[in-house]
Amino acid sequence: MKHLLKLSDLTTEEILAILNLADQLKYENKHGIAHHILRGKTLGMIFAKASTRTRVSFETGMYQLGGNALFLSSSELQIGRGEPVRDTARVLSRYLDGIMIRTFAQQEVDDLAEYGTIPVINGLTDYAHPCQVLADLMTIREYKKKLDGLKFAYIGDGNNMANSLIVGALKTGMSISVASPKGYEPDTGVLDFAKKYGNKFVLTDNSEIAAEGADVLYTDVWASMGQEKEAEIRKAAFKGFQINDKLLTRANSDAIVLHCLPAHHTVGNEEEITDSAFEKHANEIFDEAENRLHAQKAVMVKLMD
Ligand code: CP
Ligand code: NVA
Repeated sequence: MKHLLKLSDLTTEEILAILNLADQLKYENKHGIAHHILRGKTLGMIFAKASTRTRVSFETGMYQLGGNALFLSSSELQIGRGEPVRDTARVLSRYLDGIMIRTFAQQEVDDLAEYGTIPVINGLTDYAHPCQVLADLMTIREYKKKLDGLKFAYIGDGNNMANSLIVGALKTGMSISVASPKGYEPDTGVLDFAKKYGNKFVLTDNSEIAAEGADVLYTDVWASMGQEKEAEIRKAAFKGFQINDKLLTRANSDAIVLHCLPAHHTVGNEEEITDSAFEKHANEIFDEAENRLHAQKAVMVKLMD
């Protein structure tokens, strides 16, 4: 494993090895055992979109590993004035030991990896969010003590989260049902990948069918970063694609609920999840947010040590 560009590049064994290392690093972190595995190394973090969790967890994670992290806003880099990504990749490779990038086009991430000589980590594109899904898998394993054989239900937009969750769930032995409105389904390449798993993958436009008997329920925002202008149209299209108390009755009684965050759950402005459903499952959701730190530290160790 040279980069983390998207989950479909990883084998099941590589995914599980990252999760095992993440568990170990979490244990050490909780018990005050220092692990300065990346002492003297520097991660550059390029952001073309906003972030709370990704920025803070990578920066803190790198510090805990004994290294250094640089926040690089793409609007302040020459990339924002048109310097080619392939030149940026070649320059940054001369200074840094790894690059994390959050941007729009997956192609930019792939180009950084192709033209640079250091590991590249996808911190979210319009297509994928692999770091989030590694933290999600880690969290599911903590609560359910396994992944293989679980039933996962994703309710909502066929976006970057859906694309990466489908791959992550299927590769780790879960079955996954995705409920998306017509016209908002996941990426066609991901759907082709999922078809190979037969009846372990279901795509529907009915949230209740997807949630039936689920061990894990997941949702994400109706309008992702970059889609702000479509927000009103999407609000209408996604009515009924919400995790709420009624939908929860369809899932297993011990189902957990996850959300990558940020979420729209405030009473009076509830979109993909109601405040009641969110707060009932806040423990899982904030453990999931915490696990970004541990899972990404594992990724950095695997790639940069
Ligand atoms: N879930 C996630 O990636 O959060 P941020 O956008 O805050 O980084
Ligand atoms: N789908 C969301 C995920 C945010 C972490 C977005 O791309 O904005």
